[in-house]
Amino acid sequence: MKILKKDFRDVITDLSKEGTLIITDPPYNVGWKYDTYKDNISDEDYTNLFKPFKGYRLVVIHYIEDIIKYIVPVMGTPTKCVQWVYNSHLRRQHRTIAFFNCKPDLSKVIQPYKNLKDKRIIAEIAKGKKGCSIYDWWQIDLVKNVSSEKENYYNQIPEEIIANIIKTTAEKNDTIFEPFMGSGTTPAVSLKLGYECFATDISDKAFKITNDRINKLKNTLFYER
Ligand SMILES: C[S@@+](CC[C@H](N)C(=O)[O-])C[C@H]1O[C@@H](n2cnc3c(N)ncnc32)[C@H](O)[C@@H]1O
Repeated sequence: MKILKKDFRDVITDLSKEGTLIITDPPYNVGWKYDTYKDNISDEDYTNLFKPFKGYRLVVIHYIEDIIKYIVPVMGTPTKCVQWVYNSHLRRQHRTIAFFNCKPDLSKVIQPYKNLKDKRIIAEIAKGKKGCSIYDWWQIDLVKNVSSEKENYYNQIPEEIIANIIKTTAEKNDTIFEPFMGSGTTPAVSLKLGYECFATDISDKAFKITNDRINKLKNTLFYER
């Protein structure tokens, strides 16, 4: 586990394209007030933010229109897109998870069967099956203020999203790289799932929160063993 208070562009060239899976929830360039980062840059600068990812395996969480406008021109066509849907007081209630240069195997995450009265499902359960593959849309709540995983940071991604991405997409010996770590969701989930992770953020606040989150988790994992 390595977390750095740095601009990811200063370190990404050290990472091998073969052994690195980038998983990220970038700033959305919608004028959000972060403590350090100005989330309101030109179209050209925003496109340039994604250029260092070219040639890497990348999984990105974003609005579909912005993936098409800013990321596809750099990365090419995604091999797969999954929709993340959630209830919200805003009109927009879904984001897209786009997989570039890698493909998730959704059958690696099992969800419980829904219709237990269906004869085919009864037959599957009789054979010992516990459920079916997750779908290509994931209904997962936003992180609420009262949620046990909530950290004091902006736009926190639910751990279950990152867990599904890692379980379906990471190779056994991959290093997970999260360039925009924020509150450290990707490093935290990587640690829980036993993956090496490298993460960066330019914000002091993000660095401190992630550092504390990871240290706390390391102690918990230690005591649970
Ligand atoms: C959407 S937030 C990430 C939230 C994160 N997914 C979570 O669950 O907490 C985006 C982060 O990108 C950081 N950031 C913006 N530009 C950066 C850069 N060039 N290098 C590293 N971090 C950057 C911001 O400081 C901000 O913390």
